[in-house]
Amino acid sequence: MNTQQKIEELTKISEEIKNFKGLDIAKNSTHAVPGEGDPDAKIMCIGEAPGQVEDSTGRPFVGQSGQLMRKTLTETTGIKPEEVFITNIVKFRPPDNRDPMPNEIEACRDWLDRQIDIIRPKIICTLGRYSMAKFIPDVSISRVHGQPRFVEFLGQKYHPAAALRGTTVLNEFKQDFIKLKNMLNPVSPTQNIPEEKPVVTQPSLF
Ligand code: URA
Repeated sequence: MNTQQKIEELTKISEEIKNFKGLDIAKNSTHAVPGEGDPDAKIMCIGEAPGQVEDSTGRPFVGQSGQLMRKTLTETTGIKPEEVFITNIVKFRPPDNRDPMPNEIEACRDWLDRQIDIIRPKIICTLGRYSMAKFIPDVSISRVHGQPRFVEFLGQKYHPAAALRGTTVLNEFKQDFIKLKNMLNPVSPTQNIPEEKPVVTQPSLF
């Protein structure tokens, strides 16, 4: 699929999401939040569900934790938010930011699967436990954050909202992004090995 075809397919999905009224959270939302970014992105960031600012703007990860995620991405990897594709498991805001419910995750599953299929990223960076559970169920995020898994390419991270709550998690969150950069640009086995210096033997003075 070329870039133009990808844009058309992603736009179709966005329109379906915006017109969907099959969940209470969809009927009650100000704006659906389908996702945004580069259709040819190598990295796809997948969060849980939109919060208040996302609901009022229709854009993913633009509230406080979203800004932290975007800033950390750029500061640690040099990658700009517009170079990745950012979306969520659930495309509508659950009231009072409650956890998404299984029927809501299920109703939004096909849209996300199609987005992944169109973009075909090298790395899927899951943000938070609901997003992680889509790919690796039954593990605890505090044990596996930052570890890459080859479940169709995955790097799972803490949710930025958790990073906002404390310095320890914030530092781990940043370290996870640094690993993300290394996954994209692996150090070649011959890189950084100092050249062997020729052995200079002092001529004998006698
Ligand atoms: N948290 C998420 O998981 N998604 C957003 O879009 C914003 C905050």
